[in-house]
Amino acid sequence: TAAAAVRAELLRWYDANRRDLPWRRATEPPAGCGRGRGEEQRAYAVWVSEVMLQQTRVPVLVDYYSRWMARWPTVDSLAAATQEEVNEMWAGLGYYRRARFLLEGAKQIVEKGKFPLTASALREVRGIGDYTAGAIASIAFNEVVPVVDGNVVRVISRLYAIPDNPKESSTVKRFWQLTGELVDPSRPGDFNQAMMELGATLCSKTKPGCSQCPVSSHCQALALSNQNASVKVTDYPRVVPK
Ligand code: ADE
Repeated sequence: TAAAAVRAELLRWYDANRRDLPWRRATEPPAGCGRGRGEEQRAYAVWVSEVMLQQTRVPVLVDYYSRWMARWPTVDSLAAATQEEVNEMWAGLGYYRRARFLLEGAKQIVEKGKFPLTASALREVRGIGDYTAGAIASIAFNEVVPVVDGNVVRVISRLYAIPDNPKESSTVKRFWQLTGELVDPSRPGDFNQAMMELGATLCSKTKPGCSQCPVSSHCQALALSNQNASVKVTDYPRVVPK
């Protein structure tokens, strides 16, 4: 099917082009960890990185991430920190609310006594919404759940030539649904990261690199623009012909 081809081609591209980021290494189970413990550790690493990634560019983030993980290598160690210590570590990243949520979330998890190991359980943690829950569950636990950020919205809207305004909540719901149907059942974490990365790189807002895109042969927006010179793929996701 088309979905199977999109998955295979997207993952082949990701395997060849993925950046070597510290939390991607951390998603390998640490040596000597039991299964449950390894999953918790991966989840914590992905959680910290994803919260930092909301608004922060990757090169800036790598240093912050390394310092954070050296100081608080586990959720238990973070839960024992103070807000002042966390803010100090966060200085320069902005949006201190995110740092507060990380600390509050860590305290909540430690109080409960066990790390939530599914997307729906993760959503119960303060500060963890659909996006962060989906990212942690798919990347750290291989749970088959989608992740939709602004970049994924753009990729999906082009792939399926969806004219809806992504600022509306009904549209966003539809994108979660569509991405959920597309996510690769055997490599959900890599699939989600590949979608985000495709949206952040080739499938850019203006001048998308369609000639290098691994899924261009499936892209309905591109097909429309080829058939009809008046429709430009660069119009997505804002303007789409009916
Ligand atoms: N953007 C936010 N999180 C990401 C991830 N894990 N991989 C690629 N791009 C991202």
